Amino acid sequence: MGRFAPCPPEAVAAAQALCGPVQLREVTDRRGSAVWQATGPLGSVAVKLGYGVGAETTAREAAVLDALPGCTVLAGRSGADVWYATPWLNGPSTWELFQAVRDGQNGRITALAGAVALCRAVADFHATGWVHGDLQPSHGIHTAGGVRLIDFAWSWREGTDPWWEFNGGITHLIAPELAARIARGPQPVRPTAASDVYALAGTLWTCVTGRWPLDYEAAGVDVKGSSPDGLRVAIASGIPLCSARPWPELQAQLARVLTAPGTERSTAGGLADLLSAVPL
Ligand SMILES: Nc1ncnc2c1ncn2[C@@H]1O[C@H](COP(=O)(O)OP(=O)(O)O)[C@@H](O)[C@H]1O
Ligand SMILES: [Mg+2]
Repeated sequence: MGRFAPCPPEAVAAAQALCGPVQLREVTDRRGSAVWQATGPLGSVAVKLGYGVGAETTAREAAVLDALPGCTVLAGRSGADVWYATPWLNGPSTWELFQAVRDGQNGRITALAGAVALCRAVADFHATGWVHGDLQPSHGIHTAGGVRLIDFAWSWREGTDPWWEFNGGITHLIAPELAARIARGPQPVRPTAASDVYALAGTLWTCVTGRWPLDYEAAGVDVKGSSPDGLRVAIASGIPLCSARPWPELQAQLARVLTAPGTERSTAGGLADLLSAVPL
């Protein structure tokens, strides 16, 4: 913590090849990956650097970006570190889009439109045969040209070999059946479109309430004292949803998804349809 990782000269050169001479803005640096926004006269790119434990994850993500239709990416290594540069996406994240709703102000029309658009973006992603694997409130960006997903470190294309290890993206949004499989095998675990839809509904729930969906306290689970493995075992055994319902009509639809068994869960497109019918 504290010091931001230095941006490797190779990554700056790549950003300059896309944008002209760039200025760097530090965005995040955590768990072995740092992100900058590099801006020059020709535009703006996100530069991500993976170092230490983050190096291989970032290499995987660069490979995914390279394989995804419509994505532009430059990537390389700097010593043991891995970097990539990809166009910066302008717009609020889903978390930011719901800020007014969490503040109790009247932001519901925008938030609901954004929620539906996020579901449709995930449905489109699934239609190409990809599974995201780590949907979160900050991984959807609502641009003027539509919702774009980011952070493909755990993404996987159906029909290809899965990563040798998958631990489910953010633990609080992991589908119970996936948590069970990670905890009890067999390995390797594949994220699925259905587990993405759980994370999608959990993302929207979190954006509404400001809290992760599950009521750990009611289930007697000490989150701070649990390892990710311990938390996954608890999630696999079934934890009720938090009782707070600041937006009951929307949350009722999300609850249907969050409580359905994986095999009976709605698709992302189905969730978009359910949310489109939520009365305002
Ligand atoms: N292409 C992009 N366009 C806009 N913002 C981005 C982009 N890539 C990353 N970011 C910003 O950087 C943050 C961290 O990126 P992310 O890929 O999620 O890294 P991490 O591995 O640290 O989770 C995002 O939440 C977002 O704010
Ligand atoms: Mg992320």
